[in-house]
Formats: sequence, C-alpha cells, structure tokens
Amino acid sequence: MSSQAPACQLLERQKDNYTALWVVGPPVDSWLIEQSTGVISGDFDVLGEWQAKGKQARTPFDLAAGEPFGKEIVLFWPKAHQLGIWWLKWLCEQLPEGTPIEIVGEHQGGIKRVPKMLEELGMPWDKRDNARRCSLFATQTVALDLVSGNGASDSAWQQFETAGLTLVSHPGVFGHGKVDEGTLLLLESIENSLPKKPLKVLDMGCGDGIISAWLAQRGHHVTAVDVSAFAVEACKRTLAANGLEGRVLCSDVYSVLEGEQFDCIVSNPPFHKERDISYGPSQRLISAAPKHLNTGGRLILVANGFLPYPDHLQRAFQDFQTLADNRRFKVYGAIKSQR
Ligand SMILES: C[S@@+](CC[C@H](N)C(=O)[O-])C[C@H]1O[C@@H](n2cnc3c(N)ncnc32)[C@H](O)[C@@H]1O
Repeated sequence: MSSQAPACQLLERQKDNYTALWVVGPPVDSWLIEQSTGVISGDFDVLGEWQAKGKQARTPFDLAAGEPFGKEIVLFWPKAHQLGIWWLKWLCEQLPEGTPIEIVGEHQGGIKRVPKMLEELGMPWDKRDNARRCSLFATQTVALDLVSGNGASDSAWQQFETAGLTLVSHPGVFGHGKVDEGTLLLLESIENSLPKKPLKVLDMGCGDGIISAWLAQRGHHVTAVDVSAFAVEACKRTLAANGLEGRVLCSDVYSVLEGEQFDCIVSNPPFHKERDISYGPSQRLISAAPKHLNTGGRLILVANGFLPYPDHLQRAFQDFQTLADNRRFKVYGAIKSQR
C-alpha cells in the first residue's frame, strides 16, 4: 500500500526511521494509518479512521498534561497557521524537553513559514527532506518562555463579544475570533419566527457555539455537535462564559444522535474540508434531517447563495421556503410534515 496525500508520500521516503510513529493533526491516508502507532487530532473523522484499524487515537483534550504518548512524533502543519503554533506549544508542554518532533506539510499550506515560527518560539530546526511540493523539518521540544508570552497553549483561547454574547474561540475553529455574516443573517431571520416556548433544538456544526448560546439565551434546550474537538471545547466554553447550559457532543453529523428527534435543527453547515469543497456532511445533514425532526419540526439553514442546498431540501422535504436573502447568503427553512 502506498501513501496518497503528498505530505505522506514525503514521509514514506523516511519510513525506515519510524518504529512507533505518532502523528499529530494528519490527513486520512491508508498508508499512514498502517504505518503509525497512534494519532492525536482534533477531527473526530480522523480519529475514527485510526480507531477502525485498531490504532490509538486521542484528542489533545483527552490527554492529561504530561501524559506520555510516544517518542517519534510527526506534526502535520495545518492550514490555520495559528493552530500550527498552538500544536507546537502543546507538544512542548506535553513532552519532556528535548523530545524530537518532525513537521511536515505542503508548500501551498504554508510549511515554508515554519522555520521562522520555530525561531520565534526558541526551537531549533533542521530541514530533513523536500519533495512532492512538501517539506519535512526536524525540531525538538523546549521549555516554553512564559515571560515573553511565547508559552502556554491555553493562552490561544480568545474571547470576543457579539450579538449580546461572549464567544470563546480557538485557532482552527471556524471563523476564529470573527462572526460569520451568514450566521448573523440566520439569527436575525429567526429572532421573531421561533416560538417563545422552549424547544428541543440541535445546532449542527456548532463551531464556537454562537448559535447554541443565542438559542440557549432564549430559553431553548440546546444540543450542539461538531466534528472538531476544538469546536466542541470552544462551544462548551462559550456556554459557560454566558452562564448558559447545553449538551455539547463530538459527532460526525448525526453519528452520536441515533434515534433522537428535535423540534428544530439550526445550522450554518460546513462545505469545506481543509482547502477542498466538500458537500458530504451538509448533504447528510439535510437528507437525514426528517428522521431527526419531530412532526412539524423545522430545519433552518444558512448558506452562500451559490450552494446547491435548494435541490437537497426539495428532495428531503418536498418543499422549503427562503426566509432571508441578502444576495450573498440565503436562509432556508423546511418543515417536516405528517406523512
Ligand atoms: C460554517 S461552520 C459554522 C460554525 C458555527 N455554527 C457558526 O455559525 O459560526 C461549520 C461547522 O461544521 C463543523 N463540521 C464540519 N464537518 C462536520 C461534520 N461532519 N459533522 C459535524 N460538524 C461538522 C465544522 O467544524 C464547523 O465548526
């Protein structure tokens, strides 16, 4: 079996160096899964792929500080640069000083900026390999300099105020530190149309929890799910920061909600996976929505006007309405009728 992802193809050239490899934030790649002992990732899809092959899989929030997990570590440099810096700080906190780490990534994903980042963090570096438009660097963990502000992965959590709420966000969480215009349009458009009585509501793809907190603030019983462990943690922190309650779960669309039904499903659905467009999760969200709604329950979505959701809604619900349209974004609503 050969690797598919370019960064994994570069790693494959080094495979004789690895006996018990732990990969951090990797893409899903069959060769890499086979080759590695374990994975640490914020993406539950990725963790599931490793678990399905009997490998160890953890989120960074599952591990107690200092809990050991391996000595051969490769960090896949993420699209969100600030998240890459967070992973480096987290690895420095987690592992004994001097533990070797390799960092791999695609040139178009910003790996060439890594040496500068490492220097700023006071970490040594060396270039190991370069092919397939990817580079591989070697470094090692250092004791972080808390005085200069370079330390403490926890300092990456950021708070900001919007829509009457305090939102808590983290690098790698959707829109990190900013509110999405589509989400605001969605909230405006349901402000007066949602019943005032408490509803059982699902926020699908909760991100930092703006929709969940907004709904919980209006007395609704919220379940929030996201495939990202960073988003799940952010949403929990957002609810807590506003003194609100809700159930926040890691889930690939409805995977942990088997048999559950809601009065309302609200979402600003994902249509990207890293840099690629991917309609898979949004299609599953819409097509299985009737199964997860009580009769008379509503699915409410916001999306860029060009996305093909009207077709999906028509197929799943036989009918839908456009509740708002500001030319860039549209808010759609569909009701589960008695069949
Ligand atoms: C467009 S963002 C919306 C975030 C937030 N609700 C807001 O309005 O700002 C979509 C969210 O869906 C999450 N997501 C992506 N794929 C998912 C999946 N398969 N299952 C559940 N959530 C997913 C992403 O992590 C991201 O947080």
